[in-house]
Order: sequence, then C-alpha cells, then structure tokens
Amino acid sequence: MSIFNPFVPSFKINPYLQYSRLRTGDPVHRSMALQSWILTRYEDCLHILKDVENFSSDGRYASGDIGRAVREQRKTSPLGDVDSLLTVDPPTHTRLRNIISREFTPRRVELLSPRIEEISHELFNEINELDEFDMIGSLALPLPVIVIAELLGIPASDRQLFKEWSNKLAATTDVFNSEQAIQEAQEATLELISYFSDFIDARRRSPEDDLISAFVDAQSEGIQLSNDEILAFSILLLVAGNETTTNLIGNGIIALINNPKSFSAVKENFELLPSMIEEILRFDSPVQGVVRIAKNDLSLQGKDISAGEVVMAMVGAANHDPEQFAKPEFFDINRLQNKHLSFGLGPHFCLGAPLARLEATVLFKELFDRFSVIEGARSDVERGGTLLLRGFTKLPVQVQK
Ligand code: HEM
Repeated sequence: MSIFNPFVPSFKINPYLQYSRLRTGDPVHRSMALQSWILTRYEDCLHILKDVENFSSDGRYASGDIGRAVREQRKTSPLGDVDSLLTVDPPTHTRLRNIISREFTPRRVELLSPRIEEISHELFNEINELDEFDMIGSLALPLPVIVIAELLGIPASDRQLFKEWSNKLAATTDVFNSEQAIQEAQEATLELISYFSDFIDARRRSPEDDLISAFVDAQSEGIQLSNDEILAFSILLLVAGNETTTNLIGNGIIALINNPKSFSAVKENFELLPSMIEEILRFDSPVQGVVRIAKNDLSLQGKDISAGEVVMAMVGAANHDPEQFAKPEFFDINRLQNKHLSFGLGPHFCLGAPLARLEATVLFKELFDRFSVIEGARSDVERGGTLLLRGFTKLPVQVQK
C-alpha cells in the first residue's frame, strides 16, 4: 500500500519521491491524515481543474472537520462572508473575474516592465559590493511585494507593513492551520481592511493611475463590484502574488546552482530565458497543490469520491508525470513540450501569470548580466512553504562578477 506522509522532514526537502511512488502505486490516494484525496497523475489533475460542474473551489462545501473549519473561519473572518475570486464558483466567479481581468490584462502588466526593471536595478545595487548575500531577503522577496504595492497604488513608506501582512495571510494556505496562524491572519486582515478602506475612500476622492482607482472607477460606471469585493481582491493579490513569485525566483536559483551548464547557456543566450522560466515552474513548482471539493458523488480511476470530500490536485506531482513529460526529473531548459500546471488551469487559471513571468524575466536577466558564477554559500538554507506552497525563506548564495 502506498503511503503519503508530508509531515516527514524528507518531504519538505524533496516531495517528488513520495509523489512518484503514489503516482505508480495509488494515483487517487485517500489520505486519512489530511482527510483528503491526493491526486498525482497529470491527467487526473487536469480533469479536476477543468471540471467545475463536479468540483468546487468553495471550501464551505467540504464535509467533516475541514468544512466546519472553513465555515467557522468565514464566519469569524473580519472580512465577513465576502466572496474572493479564488474561492468562489461560477456564475459569481465569472462576474468577478470579468471585472477584475479588465484591469489586469497582459497589456497593462507589460506596461509595468520599465518600472519593474528600475525596482530590480535598485535591489541589485544594494548588494553590488557583496560577494555573498541572501537571495530571498535581498531580491526574491522584496521585488514582488514592491510591484504589487505599486500596482495597487500603495506608497513606498508602507511597504514593510505590506510584507508583514502578506506573510501572515500566506501562512494560512496550509491545510492544518495552527490557532496562532489563524489568529495572526485575522489580525492582519483587520489591519488591512482598515488600511484599504481609508485608501479606497482616498482614491474615490482623487483617483490616480492605479488598480484601486480603476476598481473604484468601475463602480462609478455602474459595474457591480462592492467595496468588500475590492477589499477582498486587494487582499487576495497579497496572498496569491507575493510568496508564489518569491518561490519561483528562489526555486529557480537553486535549479541554476545545481545545473551550472544551464546557467552558462542562458547567460550566453537570453532567448532561452522564457523556456528556462517555464522549466523552473515545471521542475519545482511554487504552488504544489490546488484544492477542490467534490460537489457530487463520483468515481475517479475506480475510486469512489463522495460529495463534500476534499480533493488535492498536486500540480507539483503532475509536472513530474513521465506520461506527460520526458525525463521529468531532469531540469531541461530546452524542453519543447512543457504544458505544466503550475498556474492551474480552467476558469481559475492564475490571473497573475503574466506578471509573475515578467518579474522573473526581469530579475533573472539582471542576475545573468551582473554575475558570471552563482553558487550556494556555506551558511544554511531555510525552507519555508507549506503542503501547498514550496520555497525558501533563506537562500544564501556566493557570486562572482
Ligand atoms: C509564480 C508565481 C505564481 C504561481 C505559481 C501562481 C499559481 C496560481 C495557481 C495554481 C492558481 C489557481 C488556483 C486554483 O485553481 O484554485 C492561481 C490563481 C490566482 N493567482 Fe496566481 N500564481 C502566481 C503569481 C501570481 C501573481 C503575481 C498574482 C497577482 C499579482 C496572482 C494572482 C492570482 C489570482 C488573483 C488567482 C485567482 C484566479 C481565479 O480564481 O480566477 N498569482 N495562481
């Protein structure tokens, strides 16, 4: 019988061994500890993500302890029971996503490119004299926070506050939240609500060229987006966009350190940058799993799944499925077929994918420009992450110009 135990330290270091055993031995696995079904095959994960008729993103539908916890959390959340894009199904999802994606187009994101380059430049300048630094604290963590804060229109003086709120909220993506994590997230949400409410009022009085002003403007055009929905979306951006992008950069650095030939190849030919970034996303996905709730009793690969049961599509595992990817354990920046599931799929496909790709492109380009060698430093790395997120909190590196 295949066992899935994400609580052992070896899983945090390398989850892919356990995924591989499950994929061959028990691809639709019932985890008693997680009270969930764990999917590790590409085709199954793909199916779940696309099938909105049978699988919900709304945790309130879950049966058992998980459903009770989500309903309780929603009841006691300072934000109230307001819908967030990520956790709502069509048709509400379709309405929200249509309004939001009007303002979050790849074109609008592309316009951010020069500013992201400037921010990246400033961050690299701060470590210019160093030959050893923490990749996460110096570059991978601040870049996405500053970009999202600027996108929303938040002044630079409040950035630090933002990072703290964002960390506390991201901690709750774990399946088993500690009491302390929940409480800290609630405190952070309260502070964020108070901050954003004032901010939305200010933008209503005098709009500027930022996302909050655009949402307020959409309201004045008679499009339905309530104040609470603007708040919920602003908070979602912090949770969904910061740690994920930090993880993409950190996981990419480790992949390059372990594959110095890939580092040299891209340094010599920037045309390889896009395929390198897609391969980082596939090889060591920042988001490892996406959660759904079965809406109906159904059968998957001969296993009976009951309505209300939690299903985790482990996209990190799907990305290593040899049925879909040739030699999945190899980091191959020249991979031609790379339809990874790291940004999800279907109606909830990551809204921030163009932004995440752009930030990573800008940062890696500057890294290749500035350094000829990058290696792991002697001091210890620290892994962060949860079952669903994979990344580092500390990644000391040594560089040569
Ligand atoms: C490498 C970085 C990122 C990864 C790997 C990632 C991954 C994902 C995944 C897997 C989903 C689908 C969740 C589901 O189906 O339940 C998602 C949704 C989402 N992401 Fe990202 N994300 C990243 C960066 C960002 C950024 C930078 C932003 C915004 C600034 C963002 C905003 C969102 C939003 C708003 C959703 C919800 C979309 C919806 O439900 O319709 N993400 N992301």
